[in-house]
Amino acid sequence: MCGIVGYIGDGNASDIIIEGLKKLEYRGYDSSGIALYKEGKIEVRKFKGRIANLEAAIEREHFTSTIGIGHTRWATHGAPSDANAHPHSNTDHSIAIVHNGIIENYVELREWLIKEHGIAFISETDSEVIGHLIGLYYDGNLLDAVNKAVDMMRGAYGIGVICSKEPDKLIAVRKDSPLVVGLGEGCNFIASDIPALLKHVRKIYLIENNETVVLTKNDVKIYNADRKEVKRDVFHVTWDADAAEKEGYDHFMLKEIYEQPKGIHETLNRRLDENGIVKLDGISLTKEDLEGFNKVYIVACGTAYHAGLVGKYIIEKLAKIPVEVDVASEFRYRDPFVDDKTLFIAISQSGETLDTLAALREAKNKGARILSVVNVVGSSVARESDDVFYTWAGPEIAVASTKAYTTQLMCMYLIALYMGHTKGVIDMELYHRYIDELQKVPDKLRDMLADETTLMEIAKEQYKLEQVFFIGRGLDSAVSFEGSLKLKEISYINSFAIAAGELKHGTIALIEPGTLVLALATQDRLFEKMLSNIQEVKARGAYVIGLAKEGNRDIEKQANRVIYIPDCMDDIAPLLSVVPLQLLAYNIAKLRGCDIDKPKNLAKSVTVE
Ligand code: F6R
Repeated sequence: MCGIVGYIGDGNASDIIIEGLKKLEYRGYDSSGIALYKEGKIEVRKFKGRIANLEAAIEREHFTSTIGIGHTRWATHGAPSDANAHPHSNTDHSIAIVHNGIIENYVELREWLIKEHGIAFISETDSEVIGHLIGLYYDGNLLDAVNKAVDMMRGAYGIGVICSKEPDKLIAVRKDSPLVVGLGEGCNFIASDIPALLKHVRKIYLIENNETVVLTKNDVKIYNADRKEVKRDVFHVTWDADAAEKEGYDHFMLKEIYEQPKGIHETLNRRLDENGIVKLDGISLTKEDLEGFNKVYIVACGTAYHAGLVGKYIIEKLAKIPVEVDVASEFRYRDPFVDDKTLFIAISQSGETLDTLAALREAKNKGARILSVVNVVGSSVARESDDVFYTWAGPEIAVASTKAYTTQLMCMYLIALYMGHTKGVIDMELYHRYIDELQKVPDKLRDMLADETTLMEIAKEQYKLEQVFFIGRGLDSAVSFEGSLKLKEISYINSFAIAAGELKHGTIALIEPGTLVLALATQDRLFEKMLSNIQEVKARGAYVIGLAKEGNRDIEKQANRVIYIPDCMDDIAPLLSVVPLQLLAYNIAKLRGCDIDKPKNLAKSVTVE
């Protein structure tokens, strides 16, 4: 997920593009760049790091130009670096492109360009092939060259192109990545999202899949996949820029909750081959390596640690190897037993959490093999690991983690399946059942997200409360820790999670008439045991909200209210059951008037001890 902006007109392209990129920083922020036409040449400036770096450089050079394209990057192929930042060019630098998306057949195209045309590549990105293809096909007509290049590409793309030989033209193409055109007076714009343009225009063309657009300063022409010109109605934007960044959602957290079906789908489907077998691109662990390990440590902090708790359960079950899970700040100071027979799995959204990084270094020094599950490409945790498995959640802006957690869970399932299959210890019928169940999750989540009525009612009834207990057994216990953390961190309610069977060993003393207990009971095998735990707290006057699978209606006899999730295999339930808990926390925090995206005392990336 990256952001692109392009401008053609009489204004100062560099200022307009940089301003637009800043509005798209939420789409990615590990590097940025700009290409501007000036005095017969295309000048490219691009830098690793935040857009401020680019802005400072452009200001120093006093760049003025009337046409340009810019990019803010969220790395997928190739770590964040100046070379991997966009725009990319062809060999003689007459063409510059920016790209949001993934070119799936880039390896093949790259090899062909190198072998057949002697082209030298200077980045590790998939996007660089686009500039070279257009350059290769250019013989005086930029649109023809772009069309020919696009015909060779598979994947998803929103692309902006400029050429020093046709400086009165900006071309853009869309397939499966967002692209809009802004219509100004004597100027026109492209962007991957509307917020980038709202300072200048309110009239927008929404570009559809497989369409190509040719912009001049006074005209915009749209062509369909058959290269026929098509007419488009103007879309008038009425919302403000802030709302637009959140795509109409009140908060980034809510937007990110709703992005989970997509994130989970991407994380899973890009890792399956045509036979439904898990292929982990960044992981080189062989059967021999896996058989050489005698234990796995999963180490992380906060929400990522909670994903590890689910990982332990699934990896032990499917890969038949003992797994310990630890919070990073404890692991690093307790002289854990780690050696070269240990597989160390670090989980981190940011990849910059200091405790996780320090624990990783500690394990590495002791000889462990390091596998990390990370969202931010090229982050410190990723760079210092032997193998990296990326969650494809896209940038997470809200401090409270939601889509990073569910994609981390998906990675846990995929790692467990990969290990079990590679070691040959998993029954293949069971293997395919897991894949099948995992594939159904995005649609089940969409169905759940379509109706928030029960959760809103519960939030309205309960938002003034000051104390909540979350209980569950097995995988539900792991999810209850995450549900409890979500609630406390954004609503400031004193919330506490405990394995349901542990209640009677002390904590039950706190249950009083009216105490709210959220009882997770999604595990068929443990369902009756959970009903007994619900009875225990009800007998002390607790108000119980149960969370169960559709079909397990017996819970209604015990709980005061029930939230249902779609029926699924027990082991897959965490991917579904956490979502109502995220929404409940969100709705309660909203009713309490809390600053949901930036809760007090917290930071998105904890780079201090
Ligand atoms: C809570 C939350 C934190 C993070 C933790 C680790 O919603 O987001 O608990 O999970 O700070 O951060 P990463 O995953 O970046 O290492």
